[in-house]
Amino acid sequence: MINVLLLSIIYMAYSQREQAICNQEIYLDLDVDEEIVDHAKQNGTDIVLTTSKFFLLDDGLNILNTYTTPNNGTHICNLVSGHPLQSLFLLACQSEGRSPFFVAYKQTSNNSYSVFGEYQGVPTISEVFNKFAIVGNTLIIPQKNKLVFFTTVIQATSWYIRTTAYTLDAQFFNTSSLNITDFSLSSYELDQQTYYRILTLDYENGVFWADAISRSNNLIPFNNGFINVKQSFYIPYSSRFRQVTPVKVSQNITQFIIQTYADSSFQIEYSINNSYLQLLTTLNRYKDWNPFSSIRTNNNIVAVPYQNYQKTVVINLFNIGFRLNDQQTNLKQEPTDLLISASIENLILYFTSETQLVYRSDFDTLTLCTLSNYKVE
Ligand SMILES: *[C@@H]1O[C@H](CO)[C@@H](O)[C@H](O)[C@H]1NC(C)=O
Ligand SMILES: *[C@@H]1O[C@H](CO)[C@@H](O)[C@H](O)[C@H]1NC(C)=O
Ligand SMILES: *[C@@H]1O[C@H](CO)[C@@H](O)[C@H](O)[C@H]1NC(C)=O
Ligand SMILES: *[C@@H]1O[C@H](CO)[C@@H](O)[C@H](O)[C@H]1NC(C)=O
Ligand SMILES: *[C@@H]1O[C@H](CO)[C@@H](O)[C@H](O)[C@H]1NC(C)=O
Ligand SMILES: *[C@@H]1O[C@H](CO)[C@@H](O)[C@H](O)[C@H]1NC(C)=O
Ligand SMILES: *[C@@H]1O[C@H](CO)[C@@H](O)[C@H](O)[C@H]1NC(C)=O
Repeated sequence: MINVLLLSIIYMAYSQREQAICNQEIYLDLDVDEEIVDHAKQNGTDIVLTTSKFFLLDDGLNILNTYTTPNNGTHICNLVSGHPLQSLFLLACQSEGRSPFFVAYKQTSNNSYSVFGEYQGVPTISEVFNKFAIVGNTLIIPQKNKLVFFTTVIQATSWYIRTTAYTLDAQFFNTSSLNITDFSLSSYELDQQTYYRILTLDYENGVFWADAISRSNNLIPFNNGFINVKQSFYIPYSSRFRQVTPVKVSQNITQFIIQTYADSSFQIEYSINNSYLQLLTTLNRYKDWNPFSSIRTNNNIVAVPYQNYQKTVVINLFNIGFRLNDQQTNLKQEPTDLLISASIENLILYFTSETQLVYRSDFDTLTLCTLSNYKVE
C-alpha cells in the first residue's frame, strides 16, 4: 500500500515536470485471481480482455459493456484481435500442450456483441502463442519455428478457418533454423496496390523479412530476405532479440525498432536496394530493469515498458521525431516521460489517439494520459 502511494507520488511529480498528464482513471471490477491479458480495438471500441471476461470501453475510458468469455475447464481465452474486414473480433482460447480454439464475436448493435457461428479449433497448431494477427482474411499464428498462414472464411451466419499453403519457416527464409521471438506487419502502397512487409524476429540472428501481396483479401508471400542487424557495430554481438516494431516501411526502406533482452533498443533503417543498415538512435534501457510486455509506437512516440523484480513497471516514453534534426547517428536517447505502475503481472498499453494513451497502472486500474510536445521539432 505504502509502495503504491509512493509510486503515485513519484508519478505525479513526473507528470507535472514532464509532458505527460495522466489525470483520468477507471477501476475495472476484477476478481482476485483474474488477470488483464490483452487488448484490441474494433470499430473504434477498445476491448480489454481478462482471464474470465472482456470489457468494451470508449476513448474516454467509459465501460460500455462487459461479457464473460467462453473458457472451459482446460482452455482460457487470453488473446483478442479485431477482424479488419468485418464487424467481428476473435478470441484465441489456449491451453498448454493442446491445440487452441477461436471464438468470433459479431457486433449486433452499437455496444453489444454476440458469439458468431461455432468455435473453431485449429488442430495443426500445438504450441501456445502470445500474439496473432489478422490481415484481410488471413490469420497469422506464430509458433517457435514458423509463422503459419490461415484463411478466415466468413459467411452470412457462420465462419471457419481454412489452412493455406503458406508457412514462413527456416526453409522459406533459406536459413538453417529459426527461434521466433516476435513478428510484426506493416503495409505500404505501390502502384495502387497494398503490400505487406512481415518482420520475423529470430532470437539469435535478428530480422528476416517477407513481402506479401493481397489477392482477394488473402496474403501471398512473394519475396524475402535477411537483415543482419549485428553488422551494425552498435549492436553487441552477444545480443539476443526480443521484439521488433516497425516504424516506417516502403518498397525499399524498412525502419524498425529492435529490442534486445539485456541491452538497449535500437531504431534502425535498412535499405533493401543496397543492404545499407543505419542506426538512427539507441533507446536507452531503463537502469537494469527487464524489458517487459510490448513496445508501442504512434508517430513519433515510442513507449518501452520495463519491469523490476518487484514487478513494478516503468514505461519510458521517447520522442523519436526529436532526433530528425540531429546529425549524430549514434545518439543515445533518454526518455522524455516515465509512466509508473504498481506491481502487475501483465501490462496493457494502447493509444486512443495521436496524443492519448491508456495503460494499466495497478491491478484493476487503467489510466489515461495526454501527451503534448511529441511533435517533430
Ligand atoms: C475445451 O474446448 C476444447 C476445444 O473444443 C476441447 O478440446 C477441450 O477438451 C475442452 N475442455 C473441456 C474441459 O471441456
Ligand atoms: C461500427 O459501429 C457503428 C456504430 O457503433 C455501426 O453503425 C457500424 O456499422 C459499425 N461498423 C462496422 C464495420 O461494423
Ligand atoms: C448508435 O450510435 C449512433 C451514433 O453513434 C446513434 O446515433 C444511435 O442512436 C445509436 N443506436 C442505438 C440503438 O443506441
Ligand atoms: C540459400 O543459402 C545458401 C547458403 O547460404 C546459398 O548458397 C543459396 O544461394 C541460398 N539460396 C537462395 C535461393 O538464396
Ligand atoms: C529460443 O528463444 C527463447 C526465447 O524465446 C530462448 O529462451 C531460448 O534459449 C532460445 N533457444 C535457443 C536454442 O537459442
Ligand atoms: C526501389 O528499388 C527498385 C529496385 O532497385 C527501384 O526500381 C525502385 O525505383 C525503388 N523505389 C523507390 C520508391 O525508391
Ligand atoms: C533504390 O534504387 C533505385 C534505383 O535502382 C533508386 O531510384 C532509389 O532511390 C533507391 N532507393 C533507396 C532508398 O536507396
